[in-house]
Amino acid sequence: MIEINSTRPIDGQKPGTSGLRKKTRVFQEPGYLENFVQSIWNGIGGVEDKVLVLGGDGRFFNTQAVQIILRMAAASGAAKVIVGQDGLLSTPAASHLIRARGADGGVILSASHNPGGPEGDFGVKFNTANGGPAPESVTEAIYRASCEVTEYRTLGTPDIDLSTPGRGRLLATEIEIVDPVADYAALMERLFDFDAIRALFASGFTLRFDAMHAITGPYAHEILERRLGAPAGSVDNATPLPDFGGGHPDPNPVWAHELMTLMMGADAPDFGAASDGDGDRNMIVGRGAYVTPSDSLAVIAANAHLVPGYAGGLKGVARSMPSSAALDRVAEALGITCYATPTGWKFFGNLLDAGLATLCGEESAGTGSDHVREKDGLWAVLMWLNILAARRQSVAEVMAEHWARYGRNYYSRHDYEEVDAAAAGALIEELRARLDRLAGVKLGGLSVRAAQDFSYSDPVDGSVTTKQGLEIHFAEDARLVLRLSGTGTAGATLRVYLERFAPGPEGLDEDPQTALAEVIAATEDLCQIKTRLGRAAPDVVT
Ligand code: G1P
Ligand code: ZN
Repeated sequence: MIEINSTRPIDGQKPGTSGLRKKTRVFQEPGYLENFVQSIWNGIGGVEDKVLVLGGDGRFFNTQAVQIILRMAAASGAAKVIVGQDGLLSTPAASHLIRARGADGGVILSASHNPGGPEGDFGVKFNTANGGPAPESVTEAIYRASCEVTEYRTLGTPDIDLSTPGRGRLLATEIEIVDPVADYAALMERLFDFDAIRALFASGFTLRFDAMHAITGPYAHEILERRLGAPAGSVDNATPLPDFGGGHPDPNPVWAHELMTLMMGADAPDFGAASDGDGDRNMIVGRGAYVTPSDSLAVIAANAHLVPGYAGGLKGVARSMPSSAALDRVAEALGITCYATPTGWKFFGNLLDAGLATLCGEESAGTGSDHVREKDGLWAVLMWLNILAARRQSVAEVMAEHWARYGRNYYSRHDYEEVDAAAAGALIEELRARLDRLAGVKLGGLSVRAAQDFSYSDPVDGSVTTKQGLEIHFAEDARLVLRLSGTGTAGATLRVYLERFAPGPEGLDEDPQTALAEVIAATEDLCQIKTRLGRAAPDVVT
């Protein structure tokens, strides 16, 4: 029954910021997925007698990929695969299942917020037994295995029916099909004060959650509407579609513009939120009040004591280096450590496992806690709802009070997408070479205080990760960070992160792009992005 197919290494099967992402068409090439999955098995020392979790965000090719992986797990002797019904699992739900079932790891099929469909993107990510994305040591081992793979094992069996929860077998491997929502929803009930949130909705509080035709639809429907009593229809675009309805399932003001328009209009509900393709990102917006992810993380940290699951206090907090320092100010007030890690959720795992941090987040709309080892979109929404239920204030009021107390870190990210990779690489390299000489230099109205090439030394395992972004601090309490994306599938994407602190009490209500004008000008002065990349303006401004 077991088929052993000979193969050859395929170039470029190197996991990036979050697993291996390629055009769907690339993943559909004969043997491409098989090579990578066999390389995962080889890179982690085989899957014999191991228990794995498997599921994806439902994008085009998810259905076929799940069947291929089930056959390959069985052919390599896995003891058991726990798979989401219809092959579906949100990323945080997969992380939770790995932990709750004591599995040895899991395979998540997703390209996160990247568009799906035959012309879109697909991705495969391996998570380890702690439920989190494999650390660099493991992704490196997988990559090395992909450079050496000579054969892959599979079965000649037909597809398994995954449409109903239950148990079956594939060769000697047990296949358990689970409801993708149930365990996750139960976890949320344990963390949050569902009674208080139900009472909030019963008092007339209104919500619009945009699932962006992606995986969180069924989760949001069950939790927000069915269990918490949000009015029917509060969850929009709730049916997951293989191409996300042709949209770009990234919850930011650009891609979730319909929700933004609603929230800024006269008929806005009290609270708006959205999640991405695989359910790990979030966007939070109040009536007339967009909350940046960095601010959201800071507000969540400052108010976590109001939420039952966090009433005991926070052990520490962590943010990705490019995220704003709004969190640092809250941590200082709470007397806890705030860690700054490289971009990518995998760097939070050790801090959470070691009990050094309880909450963590990234400016790219990822927020989470030690309840799982992934960022978690719906969790962030429930955090906010629980906080609003406890404080009985609007989002705008919560933000105003927060800034009045801590000051405001004006923040924005400018992305130049799919630019010429060589030009973007050269821009970064040349700037890197100049960093040492930047201190004291005047750029527009600002003067450079310090500049560094960010490298991270993990406080738990001592591993060092270098070249994680160029960070330029200005004497005027402002900062600029530049780095290249590690998740793109075409050309290069340059990310420019801009930040400026306003201590208040005056000047807390400016438009961020205005408040950041000098930092934006200094950036252009420093590296002439627009001319060098041939772009008149950034493609995405968050
Ligand atoms: C982007 C975000 C990063 C996030 C990752 C996966 O990575 O910047 O914060 O962890 O997606 O969702 P990048 O494309 O910048 O490498
Ligand atoms: Zn995602």
